[in-house]
Amino acid sequence: MTTLELYTKGARVWIPHPDQVWQGAELLENYNPSKPTLAVATDDGGTATLQLKSEKDLPFLRNPAILVGENDLTALSYLHEPAVLHNLQVRFCENRDIYTYCGIVLVAINPYDELPIYDIDTIQTYRGQALGNLDPHIFAVAEEAYTQLEREQRDQSVIVSGESGAGKTVSAKYAMRYFATVGGSVVETQVEKKVLASSPIMEAIGNAKTTRNDNSSRFGKFIELQFNKQFHIVGASMRTYLLEKSRVVFQTTEERNYHIFYQLCAARKKLPQLFLDHQDHFHYLNQGGSPDVNGVDDAETFEETVNALNLLGFSEKEQIDMFKVFASVLHLGNIRYLEGIIESENEQDQEGCLIEPEDKHMKILCDLLEIDQDDMRQWLCTRKLVSMREVFLKPMTLEEATISRDALAKHIYAELFNWIVLVINRSLESDTPRHRFIGVLDIYGFETFETNSFEQFCINYANEKLQQQFNLHVFKLEQEEYIREGIGWKMIEFYDNQPCIDLIETKLGILDLLDEECKMPRGSDASWTEKLYTKCSKYPHFSKGRFGASSFVVNHFADKVQYESTGFLEKNRDTVIEEQINVIKASRNGLVKRLFASESQKLAAPGVKVKVVASKPVSVAHKTHKKSVCSQFGKTKIFFRAGQVAYLEKLRSDKLRLCCIMMQKTVRMFVARKKYLKIKRSALLIQTHVRGWLARKEVKKRRRQIVLCQSAIRRYLARKQYKRLRIEARSIEHVKTLNKGLENKIISLQQRIDEVNKTNHELRNYQSEVQELK
Ligand SMILES: Nc1ncnc2c1ncn2[C@@H]1O[C@H](COP(=O)(O)OP(=O)(O)OP(=O)(O)O)[C@@H](O)[C@H]1O
Ligand SMILES: [Mg+2]
Repeated sequence: MTTLELYTKGARVWIPHPDQVWQGAELLENYNPSKPTLAVATDDGGTATLQLKSEKDLPFLRNPAILVGENDLTALSYLHEPAVLHNLQVRFCENRDIYTYCGIVLVAINPYDELPIYDIDTIQTYRGQALGNLDPHIFAVAEEAYTQLEREQRDQSVIVSGESGAGKTVSAKYAMRYFATVGGSVVETQVEKKVLASSPIMEAIGNAKTTRNDNSSRFGKFIELQFNKQFHIVGASMRTYLLEKSRVVFQTTEERNYHIFYQLCAARKKLPQLFLDHQDHFHYLNQGGSPDVNGVDDAETFEETVNALNLLGFSEKEQIDMFKVFASVLHLGNIRYLEGIIESENEQDQEGCLIEPEDKHMKILCDLLEIDQDDMRQWLCTRKLVSMREVFLKPMTLEEATISRDALAKHIYAELFNWIVLVINRSLESDTPRHRFIGVLDIYGFETFETNSFEQFCINYANEKLQQQFNLHVFKLEQEEYIREGIGWKMIEFYDNQPCIDLIETKLGILDLLDEECKMPRGSDASWTEKLYTKCSKYPHFSKGRFGASSFVVNHFADKVQYESTGFLEKNRDTVIEEQINVIKASRNGLVKRLFASESQKLAAPGVKVKVVASKPVSVAHKTHKKSVCSQFGKTKIFFRAGQVAYLEKLRSDKLRLCCIMMQKTVRMFVARKKYLKIKRSALLIQTHVRGWLARKEVKKRRRQIVLCQSAIRRYLARKQYKRLRIEARSIEHVKTLNKGLENKIISLQQRIDEVNKTNHELRNYQSEVQELK
C-alpha cells in the first residue's frame, strides 16, 4: 500500500486557499499518474482542478474525522501543516482548548483572554499526574519537570519559544508559579515570592510596546530555580541575553521605549528630584508617536514595580539612584547640539558642534549623575585621537556627536539593566547549597519585520540554535524509544538547520566577515555587504536582497528574512567614547560609580562577538531510523509508518460504510414495506366503501324501479278488481236496503234480552236475601 493508492475518488484532501490558507476538498476522480490534472469538489460547494506536474504536487491528505481534535498532534496519521493547523483550530474554536501536545512539546495558542485555568485548584489537580493523564496544560509540563527532578534526580529545563506575542512570557510565568507553589518551602523563606516579584521589575526595564505585543520582552531570560534535597525552592538565579539597546534611543512608529521610562514620567510628581516632564517632551520617548498602552496605567504599574523592588531588597537610596540614572538617559537624549565652527588654538578652525551653555538637560544630566558638567560637555562634542606620536582632540560633527551620545545612552541603560539583574540575583541567592535546578528559558522568538536589522539577526540566529537543540532532543528521544522497544530500523535523512547555522557562524560566514570588517579602519556596511555577496553566495541559505545593494536574505528554518545591512557594523562594534565613560566613572554617586567600575576591561575588548553556544549535533543524531515495513512490533508498542493509521482507518471506515449502507437498506425496506401495507389497507378500505356506496345506490335505483313496476301492476290489478267490485256493489246495495229493517229488529230484541237478564239477576238476589232472612 503506497500513499498514492489513497488518492481515490472521494478521498478527502487539503488544498491551498488564498484567505483561509487551507481549504478542505474531496477528490472527484481517482488519481491517475498519466493525467496532469485532478478534479476536486471544495467544501464550500465549488469545484477546482489541481495542476499536477509531479506526485509532489498532490494535495495533502486529510486525517480521518475520528482523529481530528486529538490532544496530541503525534496521534495524527498525517502530520503536515494543514493537519496541524486544522487540529489546533478545531480544539481552540470548538472547545476553547488552548493547549495541545506534540509529543513532549506543548503547543499553546494565545487566547488573548483571561481563562479560569490557572488557579490554585488547577495546580493541585495537576500535582502528581503523569503527562497525558489530564488535558494538555502548562502545569502538566511543569509537573513533568518537577516529577523528573524528584524521581530521576536530574536537572530540568523548560524552554518556551515562539514568535513575538505568542505568549512565551505569560507561559514562563505560569510555569514558575507552578514551581513556586509545589516547591514552596515549608518554612516561609520568601524565595518563591521573590522569584515571582522579579517579573514585574524585569518587565518594567526589559519590556516595551511593539507593533506585535504591548508587553514585548526585548531581552532573553533564563531563570534557574534551585531546589534542596527535599525539593523545596531555596534560591534562584537569572541570566539575561541580547537586550535590545537600540530601543533606548529609537523606536519605530507605534512602538514605545522601555516601560520604566513612561512609569517614571507618570510618577514625576512623586519624584521631583528627577526633573521629569510629560513623556511627549522627551526625544527618546516620543519617536514612535504612541505614548500609551491600552488598558495600562503607567502610574499604577510604577507602584507595582516599586513594591517588587522593595520585596527584592532594593533600598530606598538604591531605588532613587536607579531612577536618577534612568532619568539621566532621558535628559541625555534631550540635549541639543548646535552646529558651528570650533576655534582651535594651534590648528585650523574646524567644523563641529557644541552644546549651549544654558542647556537645561545638560545641567540636569550632570546633577543626576553627579558628574562634572564641563568635562561631560567637552566629551559629548569632542573626541580624542591617539596617533603614534601625539594625542590630539577632534571636534565631532553634529552627526558624530549624536551617534556618540546615543551610544552613551544605550550603554548607561545596559549597565543599569545588568546591575539590576545582579542585585536581583543577589537577593535570590541561597545560603543552602543547591541540589538540583529547574531552568525556565524565555528568549524572544523568531522575528521578521518590514525592516530587519542587527537585533533581528541576532535573535533569529539564537532561534536557529534553539531549533537545532530542539530537533536533536526530539530525535534523540525518538531514537532512544526505538532502542528501548527493540525494533528494526533503517536510516533516513531529516531536516536539519546546520547549513543555515554554518552560513552564520562558520569561518568566512556572516558573523566572521562582520567581525573582520569591524576591525578594518575603513570598514563599512557597504563593503561588508559586498563581501557577503562574494563569499556567502555559495550557501543555499543566502541570497542578495531584492532591492538595492544594502540588503541580504537568510533563509531561516522559520522563514526567509531580508536584513538591511546599514548599521550592522556600528551595532556590532557597540563602542562608546572612553572619555565619556571616564567622566561618569568619576561620579560622586556610589551607584553610578559602581555601574562603570569594570568598564576599562570591557572597552579594551576587541569588537563584540555574537556567538550563541549550543552543543554541536552528534553525528548519529543527523539521522533517524525508519521502519522498512508498514508497521513493526516493539516490546510494548506497535510502530506504524506515516499514513498507515490513516490507511487502516480508511479500510475501517470503508467497511463501516458498507455496513451502514446494508443497515440503511434494510431499515428503508422495512419502513417502505410498512408504509406500502398501510397504503394498501387504506386503498382497500376506500375501495370497499366506494363499492358499497355504488352498490347501495344501484339497489336503491333498482328498488325504485321495481316499486314503480309493482305499483303499475298493482294499479292495473286494482283497477281491474275495482271494476269488478263496482259491478258487484251495485247488486249488494239492493240486498242492503232489504236487510236494513231486519237489523233494527235484531237490535231491539237484543235490548230486551239485556233487560230480562237484569231482572233475572235482581230476582235471584231477592231470593237469596229471602233465604237468609228465613
Ligand atoms: N495563556 C494566556 N492567557 C491569557 N492571555 C495570554 C496568554 N498568553 C498570552 N496572553 C496575552 O498575550 C500577550 C502577549 O503575551 P507575551 O507577552 O507572553 O508574549 P511573548 O511571546 O512573550 O512575546 P514577546 O516575544 O514579544 O515577548 C500577553 O500580554 C497577554 O495579554
Ligand atoms: Mg515575552
